[in-house]
Amino acid sequence: MENKDEESMEVDGTPSTSIKDSAEKKYIHDTTSLLYPREHMEIGHPLKDGMIEDWDMFESTLNHIYKRHIQSDSSLHPVLMSEPPWNVRIKREKLTELLFEKYNIPAFFLSKNAVLTAFANSRATGLVIDSGASHTTAVPIHEGYCLQHAIMKSPLGGDFITKQAKNFLASQKIDILPPTFIASRETVKEGQAPIFKRKEFAKGVTQSWQDYMINTQIQDFQASVLQVSDVPYEEEIIEQMPAAPYEFATGYNLEFGGERIQVAEGLFDPTVIKAPGLEPSTMLSMAHIATSSVHLCDVDIRSALLSNVIVTGGNSLLLGFTDRLQRDLSIKTPQNMKLKVIAPSAAAERRFSSWIGGSILASLVSRMYKCVYLCLGRGGGWQF
Ligand SMILES: Nc1ncnc2c1ncn2[C@@H]1O[C@H](COP(=O)(O)OP(=O)(O)O)[C@@H](O)[C@H]1O
Ligand SMILES: [Mg+2]
Repeated sequence: MENKDEESMEVDGTPSTSIKDSAEKKYIHDTTSLLYPREHMEIGHPLKDGMIEDWDMFESTLNHIYKRHIQSDSSLHPVLMSEPPWNVRIKREKLTELLFEKYNIPAFFLSKNAVLTAFANSRATGLVIDSGASHTTAVPIHEGYCLQHAIMKSPLGGDFITKQAKNFLASQKIDILPPTFIASRETVKEGQAPIFKRKEFAKGVTQSWQDYMINTQIQDFQASVLQVSDVPYEEEIIEQMPAAPYEFATGYNLEFGGERIQVAEGLFDPTVIKAPGLEPSTMLSMAHIATSSVHLCDVDIRSALLSNVIVTGGNSLLLGFTDRLQRDLSIKTPQNMKLKVIAPSAAAERRFSSWIGGSILASLVSRMYKCVYLCLGRGGGWQF
């Protein structure tokens, strides 16, 4: 894995790798390094819709993983990678070619991420509901195989919630600035206008970096404040909900009551969505994608799927997500069928379930080979 253009640098004490390609483009890896403002640094991701889109960036990430983390020759380790169930043949071929020809790996295995999630939850059959950053999917798995024809997808995921939360905060005229943007601030009482000084950045700081930083701040708000209601949204019920306090990086602090339920309700009831460019009537709710997927499967296996509904993905960590899913699904489940929703409580088990499943699968064959396993995700980055 020799690359004469490769160079390393230390940022905030975190080692990271940057690679110059022929066009003098440098790649900087590691989420910690991204927090530091740099001139002309654009934030990008090699995946789109779960599939590899930017091969240059992907290759530089692989170089970084081998050089900085695995620290061993790639030719010594077979590789197991996860892929989304809708991955296309041409991308799969290109990836295989890259790994064998450039990295000279001895063996390669690609597994569907939903299958690995089912393994991580000790199931070979089940319906995997994965609510990630860009979308939510329902993927039926039967005896270790993914039933491609019955996959259901909805664009309602973590990014959608981030947008909704951004719109809500903008409507309240609340400044959303990440801590990196604040030079100094004063303590103010609840609801009082914040008193702070903004940091001046060099002119070359890019818009994509600023957007990325603002989105991470909103995601923190999402994880700390938002909640999914147990029952469909109703004004009287919502008014009785306890409020959640939140302090923004500017020092502005407020208690959020019913609004924190309202923002997330669109996931389970798309008719309440008010967003330009999104047509609520064409959206499927979380429970709807699950039941539609089950209905596309053979009658004989529907009961096995409903008794093994596995919930995964970072967006499913929203407070109340699984309880509401359980409630909405139980209404739609026929009385003669048992419904069981499986959702590990640990955040890491939800966010990195395919990596965990991959590690189980790889350890099964580790007597033959020592495997390196890689799982690719948008919100979670790389796990290896
Ligand atoms: N504790 C949390 N509460 C609410 N949302 C969360 C939490 N942790 C992560 N998320 C959201 O989950 C999404 C990332 O999920 P993830 O499964 O890692 O993405 P993907 O698999 O699509 O790469 C982001 O939109 C993030 O805001
Ligand atoms: Mg995920």
